[in-house]
Amino acid sequence: MPYSNPNHSKPNNAGKPAGQQHNSTKQSVFNCFASCPRGLEEILVAELESMGAQKTRAVTGGCTFEASWRQATRMTYWTRFAGRIGLELARGECTSEDEFYHIAKSVDWHNWFKLSNTFRVDLNNLGADIQSVRFTQLRLKDAVCDAFLERFDERPNVSVEAPDVRIFAAINPTEAMVYIDLAGENLFKRGWREEAGVAPLKENLAAGLWHIARQSEAGKNADVFLDPFCGSGTLVIESLSQLCDRAPGLERAFAFENLKPFTPEWGKELQEDANRRFNAGLDKALTTPYFQWYASDITELLIDIAQENLARAGFEELLDAGIVQFAQRDALTVEPPSPSGIVFSNPPYGERVRAKGADVPEDEAYERLFKAYGDHLKMNFSGWTAFLFSGDLEIKKTLGLSPKRKRPLFNGPIECRLFEIPLTRGVYRPRATTEQPPEES
Ligand SMILES: C[S@@+](CC[C@H](N)C(=O)[O-])C[C@H]1O[C@@H](n2cnc3c(N)ncnc32)[C@H](O)[C@@H]1O
Repeated sequence: MPYSNPNHSKPNNAGKPAGQQHNSTKQSVFNCFASCPRGLEEILVAELESMGAQKTRAVTGGCTFEASWRQATRMTYWTRFAGRIGLELARGECTSEDEFYHIAKSVDWHNWFKLSNTFRVDLNNLGADIQSVRFTQLRLKDAVCDAFLERFDERPNVSVEAPDVRIFAAINPTEAMVYIDLAGENLFKRGWREEAGVAPLKENLAAGLWHIARQSEAGKNADVFLDPFCGSGTLVIESLSQLCDRAPGLERAFAFENLKPFTPEWGKELQEDANRRFNAGLDKALTTPYFQWYASDITELLIDIAQENLARAGFEELLDAGIVQFAQRDALTVEPPSPSGIVFSNPPYGERVRAKGADVPEDEAYERLFKAYGDHLKMNFSGWTAFLFSGDLEIKKTLGLSPKRKRPLFNGPIECRLFEIPLTRGVYRPRATTEQPPEES
């Protein structure tokens, strides 16, 4: 379900009876909800506030806020961390499927999309006492169709696979909220990925990891980056996108483009502004190289895929200029390309690990590889800092290295950490205590 917890503190239309909600396209401010990977809520709030969001409130897996149509569509275009953004079109007290139907039908749907548009509906049950989600979801679809039928004697068609318009609702024990989705396909899909590698990271999570790493002293000051387990290149591309000010939505379509308030002029303005910013970012990187990116993986095919992804994202010139360099390598043989920098990586965990003599059970292969990789970092990367994103919560033991910080985050349902590990030369001596670094909230 797209929205895990759209729990607005206060509806815009407080006090109005169900069925009398705001839903005018002319409305100046909307209640909105943005979803994100769990753990990124705080940075999502800051990101949306930087684009004008008001009355922000983080909730688990997202945030609520107020924004105008223009602000919300610009946020959808530019957000690096959100998965979806929706405008709330109706909200009301609701304790039955029937009340839910009336709330959904109260929206002037014809003001939002055309009869010729296809649509789909989704429903998130947040604990409401309903017989069946499927049935209530059908009531949502009926409400939209009936609103059109009453006005035009015709109804728009449903398309589950490739709808022009997405509508979703959330229903809790006392209230229902109905949203129109601005994103369409989930926003982690940036439009540059054709083939995925082994366990690719979602792009919005990768972007969040980079943002968090760059907030730390070591990340902020680094200009050399190395991902020795780069897979399909997600971390490289998402970090370059931030370094070069590339809009995440530059090459993709959005559902908001199919909605009636959207104008081609507004689309052009968004596009031109994004092109201008990306061109300036690329020029800066090419004319005054202020960072250097190295990425490698043991699997040759993934290196090809990563480079293709990078080119599709518009960074081919950085590759040609040698500012980004890919190589097929076992991580254990990757030497530091400069005296300092950051290792920024999502090493394999819980999936097939390829290590020398890996003809052993997977967990043993993992332990071997990471013990050897910890030694490799200690012996060769002094002066560097490693930022490793992993579901191995015991990474300190596995690597034999002590993280300075660990930030809890979720990769889908999997609890992970972004570990920040300062590297100093020396032989690892286990600590006498089991003291753990504090977890960030
Ligand atoms: C979790 S995936 C990284 C996914 C990547 N972040 C992405 O989004 O596509 C881990 C990667 O480690 C690579 N790998 C496994 N063993 C390796 C080794 N010994 N040296 C280098 N890479 C290795 C795998 O081929 C895989 O691409």
